[in-house]
Amino acid sequence: MQQFRRVSVIGAGYVGLATAVGLAARGHDVDLVETRTDRLEMLRAGSLPIHEPGMAAAYADTQTKSRIHPMASPAPGSDLLLVCVGTPIDEEGRSDLRQVEGALRSVADLAASGTPVVIKSTLPAGSGETIVMWLRGDSSRVFANPEFLRQGHAIEDFLKPTRVVIGAFPDADPDALALVEEVLHFTDCQLLVVGMAEADLIKNGANAFLALKLSFTNELSVLCEALNADVMKVVEGIGLDERIGSQFMQPSFGFGGSCLPKDLCALTNVGKSFGLAMHVTAAASEANADHQQHFADRIVGLMPPHSRRVAILGLAFKAGTDDVRSSPALRVAKILIARGLEVVGFDPHAAADANREVPGLSLANSAQSAIAGAGVVAIGTEWPEFRDLDWASLAKTMAAPIIIDGRRLLDGERMRALGYHFETIGAPIPRN
Ligand code: UGA
Repeated sequence: MQQFRRVSVIGAGYVGLATAVGLAARGHDVDLVETRTDRLEMLRAGSLPIHEPGMAAAYADTQTKSRIHPMASPAPGSDLLLVCVGTPIDEEGRSDLRQVEGALRSVADLAASGTPVVIKSTLPAGSGETIVMWLRGDSSRVFANPEFLRQGHAIEDFLKPTRVVIGAFPDADPDALALVEEVLHFTDCQLLVVGMAEADLIKNGANAFLALKLSFTNELSVLCEALNADVMKVVEGIGLDERIGSQFMQPSFGFGGSCLPKDLCALTNVGKSFGLAMHVTAAASEANADHQQHFADRIVGLMPPHSRRVAILGLAFKAGTDDVRSSPALRVAKILIARGLEVVGFDPHAAADANREVPGLSLANSAQSAIAGAGVVAIGTEWPEFRDLDWASLAKTMAAPIIIDGRRLLDGERMRALGYHFETIGAPIPRN
């Protein structure tokens, strides 16, 4: 028989919201602590501060059942405290743990009275002692539970995890550990109980490995352009080897988001702090930056002489989210603006944040108005709705009918039949 618990989730970002909604869907009672008043007010009014497919309906359901209680600070009475605040990286690529410190200090009294604390925020490996210090002392009821959910699939990934990793200190209290396992390991997927540093390294390492795979795919993609080859065929052939697999090999002009670039940096910096070279992760970060530069150079090279206007369709770091953190499309926009071009962007969900990140970017309120008058259209995010635009009519509204697809989204043959000069990434480049 499943026991229903009262759980406090600290932080209502992607991980916190998915955790709160997921645990509430499983019947637990959740205190959702959010210190930002704008977010808290939205949550209290029944709406969400992020765009995540399926989450609004799931949150509404928890509200009807009165299972999630948004609040400004942690309240006593919970069985478990889950810390889900952000750990962004600063300008130098170091993890900024100030939100974690604030969250831990805010629950230190509750932790001291015996409530176990689980850190779900992504920490750079080796932060364990600092965490215990912020909690004022006792490591036996402090755990890590790294999160492997993807934005755009957050709820399903939370409810059907690939594995559950729990990090514990050597003096872990067996009853506290049993409670953490009971609440967080609720499917038959594999449970791994490991040390704290190992838990952090599993998280950092998994994301860094995914990033390596992408940097490698994107490097092959650029090489294919030079060799007049098609990267999709190359990747298909490579991926048929089961040791490699074909997942996570969709070429692009670089990866982004709040996780992959950050974990690559975190792993590189932790290694360097021990005097290690960290060749592989450092190279993957550099390659990623180069892929955005390469895409921007291709756009500049395509500009017709009579136009300075580029339309970027899609500004989010990937489709299915409104998140623009480390978005490759925005980095390309910045490079183009610095090169003196007029850049107009459109995104179905991410526009407001995009403008905050790149103030020089003009925003259009539809794909059609972004495209009108542009000399080149670049596909920046793989939103499926861009496929269904009336491309035949749109060609006539452009300064020149030129498209470059950074996501392999559009059908090149169809675009060329409509009269476009069409280029994509990782494929032979038409010379006309
Ligand atoms: C990533 C990991 O995939 C999750 O497992 C992890 O839990 C999460 O970070 C996290 O640490 O919280 P996410 O940041 O949501 O998830 O994004 P991904 O789906 O991994 O995509 C990252 C970037 O890679 C995007 O810019 C995406 O467009 C790009 N990508 C992904 C490709 O260019 N090609 C692919 O085949 C896959």
